[in-house]
Amino acid sequence: MNKVKKIIDKKNKSKIICLTAYSKNFAKEIDKYADITLVGDSLGSVLYNYSTTKKVTLTEMINHSKSVRMGVKKSLMVVDMPSKTYDTKESALKNAKKIINETKCDAVKLEGGKKIIKQIKYLIKNKILVMGHLGLLPQTAKGKFRSKGKTLKEKKQLINDAILLQNAGVFSIVLECVKTSTAKEITKILDVPTIGIGSSLHCDGQVLVTDDLLGLNETKIKFVKRFLNLKKYVNLGLKRFVLDVRSKKYPSKKYSY
Ligand code: KIV
Repeated sequence: MNKVKKIIDKKNKSKIICLTAYSKNFAKEIDKYADITLVGDSLGSVLYNYSTTKKVTLTEMINHSKSVRMGVKKSLMVVDMPSKTYDTKESALKNAKKIINETKCDAVKLEGGKKIIKQIKYLIKNKILVMGHLGLLPQTAKGKFRSKGKTLKEKKQLINDAILLQNAGVFSIVLECVKTSTAKEITKILDVPTIGIGSSLHCDGQVLVTDDLLGLNETKIKFVKRFLNLKKYVNLGLKRFVLDVRSKKYPSKKYSY
């Protein structure tokens, strides 16, 4: 069964796991657990300290994705198309092809609904696998980030956008910071799976930034749960190295030529 079909088939059966990766070594470990490995443009804030993902470039996404590709064997590898690379359907196709040709990823993810539906339809018509992204859209958000789908108007718009994306042929939709009841309703209405981030238990799957869940990246975002304090272990290893070097235990004969 192909990877996308397997993911869609999980809807209403078992939760879909999606995790971000920005480089080979992490990707190798993530690939053991994830259905979808996402090279997210969140790498802009996590790795480059950009104030917004709007600053992430196509070259940065491609370079990190090439590294991730070396670690991903079994999961579906999805790459975020960065801001301004899909303003028109022609630029969307040109840049999606560039990403896929250079990184050998399986699919691309674009942020938005009705406003970018022409681009999404055009990519799918040209046999490109597309993952949707609705709710909070960091590439176009103005001002402080806030949750979506709280008012009736926003809820209706999100539902309409989700249906439009599904009808266009996306294989799943990320719902970012969507109110619980709205995420629940969208998930129920759609045949394709929803992947939540800050959008409640009701989504068909969950995604988190791996650096956040491992405690490598310090963040106070409400939906981030720290599942491990990896920094503690990194420090432990580094301290052991420093101690051994200073006490001249390392490199001993065993580690010398
Ligand atoms: O950029 C990213 O990592 C994302 C996920 C958090 C959904 O889009």
